[in-house]
Amino acid sequence: MLEITNLVAGYGGVPVLRDVSVTLGKGEIVGLLGANNAGKTTLINSLSGLVVPMSGKIMFEGNDVTRLTPKQRVELGIVQVPEGRLVFPEMTIRENLLLGGVNARARPHRPSQMDKVLELFPRLKERLSQDAGTLSGGEQQMLAIGRGLMAEAKVLMLDEPSLGLSPLFVQYIFGIIDRLHQDGLTILLVEQNLNLTLRHAQRCYVLERGQVAVEGDADSVRDDPRTRSAYLGL
Ligand SMILES: Nc1ncnc2c1ncn2[C@@H]1O[C@H](COP(=O)(O)OP(=O)(O)O)[C@@H](O)[C@H]1O
Ligand SMILES: [Mg+2]
Repeated sequence: MLEITNLVAGYGGVPVLRDVSVTLGKGEIVGLLGANNAGKTTLINSLSGLVVPMSGKIMFEGNDVTRLTPKQRVELGIVQVPEGRLVFPEMTIRENLLLGGVNARARPHRPSQMDKVLELFPRLKERLSQDAGTLSGGEQQMLAIGRGLMAEAKVLMLDEPSLGLSPLFVQYIFGIIDRLHQDGLTILLVEQNLNLTLRHAQRCYVLERGQVAVEGDADSVRDDPRTRSAYLGL
């Protein structure tokens, strides 16, 4: 469904990602692992178009999207749930969700999509007219995922959804990720949390200093000694 080939990308002409190739099959949860600063967010931002690649190619459902704008990519269904949630704190939960669905493809279905999101997250339903800034971290993560679903994502890219959440909320959010997977959504799950990701993803890539150090199914990545060393920077 999504195929990244030999991607080189970075900032101010300095590459962070070097020769990264990653694929996502339809309906898969693919884990993207790596220590802090490995380049995980840079990869997600390259997929959403916020970082412009220096070279390499990104194909989505048979179309070359490498040079498309972020807006065009959202229209195609490539949707990011950013690191740190980035909800709009002074807007209500309802407004945040509606904003998620402004793209031309999603806009006509906003009422029915909103019902689905609120069924998934009853806690948000109880707080619809509350400002998003009043939510706890876990609730903001629900809202950020809900906003991504409102865009009618075909591939949902989650950037460190467990970051800063209590163990209970982490469990809940990963339950939601499993449920979205069961419903057929394709998911790119970016995490530092190794064991958690290996439990939920079918395949994983481990990034180390901007390069893919290990890739394979969850079991082989778990057992590969390079996985631990990529984390410890040895
Ligand atoms: N906007 C930016 N400008 C310059 N360098 C950046 C920027 N964002 C990230 N970097 C650098 O790129 C590298 C990878 O960062 P990032 O993709 O955020 O890693 P991760 O998400 O794995 O923690 C880091 O060395 C970071 O300092
Ligand atoms: Mg990051």
